[in-house]
Amino acid sequence: MNYKEALKNPVFKIISKSAQELQLESFVIGGFVRDFLLKRGNAKDIDVVAIGDGIKLAKQVAKNLPNKPKVQVFKTYGTAMLRFDDIEIEFVGARKESYTEDSRNPSVENGTLVDDQNRRDFTINALALNLNEKHYGDLLDPFNGVEDLKNKIIKTPLNPDITYSDDPLRMLRAIRFATQLDFMIEEKSLEAISKNSNRIKIITNERIVTELNKILESKKPSKGFLLLEKTGLLQYILPEITALKGIDEVEGQRHKDNFYHTLEVVDNIALNTNNLWLRWAALLHDIGKAPTKKFSKKVGWTFHGHEFEGSKMVYRLFKRLKMPLNDKMKYVQKMVFMSSRPIVLADDIATDSAVRRLVFDAGDFVEDLMTLCEADITTKNPKKFNKYHNNFKIVREKIIEVEARDHVRNFQPPVSGEEIMTAFNLKPSREIGIIKETIKEAILEGDIPNEYEAAFQLMLKKGKELGLKVNSKV
Ligand code: CTP
Repeated sequence: MNYKEALKNPVFKIISKSAQELQLESFVIGGFVRDFLLKRGNAKDIDVVAIGDGIKLAKQVAKNLPNKPKVQVFKTYGTAMLRFDDIEIEFVGARKESYTEDSRNPSVENGTLVDDQNRRDFTINALALNLNEKHYGDLLDPFNGVEDLKNKIIKTPLNPDITYSDDPLRMLRAIRFATQLDFMIEEKSLEAISKNSNRIKIITNERIVTELNKILESKKPSKGFLLLEKTGLLQYILPEITALKGIDEVEGQRHKDNFYHTLEVVDNIALNTNNLWLRWAALLHDIGKAPTKKFSKKVGWTFHGHEFEGSKMVYRLFKRLKMPLNDKMKYVQKMVFMSSRPIVLADDIATDSAVRRLVFDAGDFVEDLMTLCEADITTKNPKKFNKYHNNFKIVREKIIEVEARDHVRNFQPPVSGEEIMTAFNLKPSREIGIIKETIKEAILEGDIPNEYEAAFQLMLKKGKELGLKVNSKV
């Protein structure tokens, strides 16, 4: 492998020259090298390690770059960042961390490249390329990271107990990389994660969510959630999901394991959408089932109102994890709340009015809702599977038809409240609401078209029924 290929961006020569001017050694390290070897496409983040003062090197590089970019210095971390084209380049001085026995606080000292590589998270993230003139482009791989890349395995450079307790976020990173890259996690590492799982509590929610999002954005997210569950991390991060685990049996009646079902739904939806929030909705669509689960002799297991309960739980979960409480959260709530609606239609051939109501209630989210509900079909009975999918195909066609004809998405009443008031000489009153509701219902039922004239006539009729007098000017 010619590693110089990785360094074809002219910025690397400039970093090399700048380091030489300062009589420092410098290396590209971490994700950039890993992703080059994995052919994961052009990286937008480059990490540079200097044997010496990383901030000084960043400033020298900025001076030598044609666009003289600004250097952002993070004093507390001893790092500096600059932008070149659309790439972020981060500089850090090589460090050696030693932990005294009576304290977990690291004392950070300057170190060699190997010291620095030692304190990184995984062997595949400790790969470095030499930027020094004499050995330009040489690979430095003290822990056989290249071998681990080939064998698709996540290992820590040091004893995993040390690596993970240095930064417990790495437990999540291990699982995230295993999911994104479809790698295995070394047994020793998995054991260390299980042992230290409760230490995830010291990590901020924002950083946890970043990793969860990356797991959800992977091709097969279930791999990550199964690992999170197996290592015990999931109960600290998303107890709502672990609560779905298990099958209860009473008098020979069982319900399905909603944890494994949920993971199947997430994998299914990942095949059909890259919309992260729709993937979140798939993950959370059944969370209301744990608190609403009941058994009765008559009907067996039920989860009455789980969609409503689930949508309330979405808010609490987003709040706890410091996720945005904005339109994204509302979208996930709505998806969860409506998640059982289309499946009812799929049981039989859907009527036009049922489809019209679905489009009316879901508005712009109707296609996403259909995608969620199709992913929700995890029955192992091929007859049922085909029936549901075929019926959903028909529902989708009907949505297009109904849309073209009736325009009920983002419904605007064809006759306004003002017009009703004028027509009957009314002040704001209950009757206006009744008339509006009658018109809306008639349109959704298909009794009248969604048009002004038909709605106006119905208004007059309903008004008369209510004993209202028509304004003589109408
Ligand atoms: N790193 C680490 N421990 C962490 C985070 C990062 O040792 N908790 C090191 C790794 O060597 C990693 C490098 O810092 O490769 C850069 O980290 P980051 O940019 O967060 O991740 P990448 O590996 O670049 O991967 P991605 O961009 O996919 O997050």
